[in-house]
Amino acid sequence: MADYDFDVLVIGAGPGGYVAAIRAAQLGLKTGCVESRETLGGTCLNVGCIPSKAMLHASELYEEAASGKLGKLGIKAQVELDLDTMHGQRKDAVKGLTGGIEFLFKKNKIEWLKGHAAFTGKDTVQVGDRTVRAKNIVIATGSSVTPLPGVTIDQKVVVDSTGALELAKVPGHMVVIGGGVIGLELGSVWKRLGAKVTVVEFLDQILPGMDGEVRKEANKIFKKQGIEFKLATKVTGVTVSGDKATLTVEPAAGGAAETIEADAVLVSIGRKPNTDGLALDKAGLATNQRGQVEIDHDFRTSVPGIWAIGDVVPGPMLAHKAEDEGIAVAENIAGQTGIVNHDVIPSVVYTMPEIAGVGLTEEQAKERGEVKVGKFPMLANSRAKTNHEPDGFVKVVADAKTDRVLGVWIIASVAGTMIAQAAQAMEFGATSEDIAYTCHAHPTHSEALKEAAMAVTGKPIHI
Ligand code: FAD
Ligand code: NAI
Repeated sequence: MADYDFDVLVIGAGPGGYVAAIRAAQLGLKTGCVESRETLGGTCLNVGCIPSKAMLHASELYEEAASGKLGKLGIKAQVELDLDTMHGQRKDAVKGLTGGIEFLFKKNKIEWLKGHAAFTGKDTVQVGDRTVRAKNIVIATGSSVTPLPGVTIDQKVVVDSTGALELAKVPGHMVVIGGGVIGLELGSVWKRLGAKVTVVEFLDQILPGMDGEVRKEANKIFKKQGIEFKLATKVTGVTVSGDKATLTVEPAAGGAAETIEADAVLVSIGRKPNTDGLALDKAGLATNQRGQVEIDHDFRTSVPGIWAIGDVVPGPMLAHKAEDEGIAVAENIAGQTGIVNHDVIPSVVYTMPEIAGVGLTEEQAKERGEVKVGKFPMLANSRAKTNHEPDGFVKVVADAKTDRVLGVWIIASVAGTMIAQAAQAMEFGATSEDIAYTCHAHPTHSEALKEAAMAVTGKPIHI
């Protein structure tokens, strides 16, 4: 080690960085992790996955009770919203989990360097007044909100996802700019709590990147829930006066502009990699056109000894992808073989119903060759039907010749849980027949996946 302070210095303590640090320490490497936030856990634990799921869970229960839906189960309730307490349990979840990472750092003897890291050379980093030298440096700086030109986020009337998690009162009308994952999850939260919600999406359909049929069905279900959509529409300006906003929108293809009044505007048009202030040039690195740090299959950048993972590198911006890359990069640094199968990264939208997918969409699969598709509606699944959760379907896309599963797409109340089975099957190279002939417990939502797999060869039982 001689004059190195660390075998591994990780920059950023999100799910990519903190997991990389823990695995590196577990492998016997002297490890430090730089984080400029007050708490560990990155976007995911502080302002992303965890607080959004805390609000999604609570708002879902509120809506079920307040809307009288529970009446058909024989449950009558007088319901009142206590938004302060709802926010309180969100903050508790964040505090507990970020504190948990701090505990894991101590347990694994990982030093947390508090402050912003900037490269001063290819193996040196400046953190405050401390200069640190490391044999290996992992860039895991994550991502932040993509701004919309001409629209100022004030976190009061015009908010990003962080502001939208913390609104002090339910807005009368919330306009969401961007019909992607954040827009639909956080739009759902405030819709359930009583806001009118309008989603303005530039493309002609919501949820880009997902299977075409899933996107259409999801749109139909959200409309049924009362969310309004303005598809193929662009926002050309937002002005704020007092506690109200006025948006100017026009058809994406051009045409007459109109205005929309709102009490809250959520800007959720994507996220961009964090490299500002990192002084990558001092290390001999540059970003690509999309601002990402390019890596090879082993997570090495073009500079030996510098590695990168998570949202700052190309690929889906998902916590579990960052975590798996964190493990793999640490194993590679330790001389082991760390691999992430980027063809099998599930993605989940935690709305009600949930929307999940893994592998190729039907459209992508068809571009590569002949496919067979099996579908099964949740309406015909006994458990979903019994639980009054009839919306959605499972779809299995398989190679027409080999029957190998290429993609699985699910809209169902527990799609996020169901997709794990599909990911594991695909990781093992399963055919649709393998899934169809695996015994599934009854009555479970997962039986719908078995039936969809049976439908690939045209033989489901329950439809
Ligand atoms: P991050 O979590 O962004 O962490 C990077 C850390 O690095 C940050 O804490 C930052 O402060 C720190 N940092 C950056 N630069 C420096 C520097 N120079 N010096 C020191 N520290 C630095 N993904 C899912 O899979 N499931 C979900 O349900 C989900 N929900 C989400 C909900 C919302 C509202 C948002 C915004 C995101 C959500 N995501 C979700 C995405 C997920 O949060 C990210 O994919 C994930 O956090 C990326 O992990 P990361 O480690 O690459 O980066
Ligand atoms: P997104 O990429 O999912 O969706 C952005 C949407 O905005 C797209 O539909 C895009 O067409 C649209 N858009 C872009 N510019 C626009 C404009 N000017 N006007 C109107 N619409 C416009 O990005 P989002 O929702 O901000 O989320 C960022 C990332 O965070 C996601 O891609 C995902 O990786 C991650 N995330 C994951 C979650 C999960 O796994 N459940 C939850 C939340 C975020």
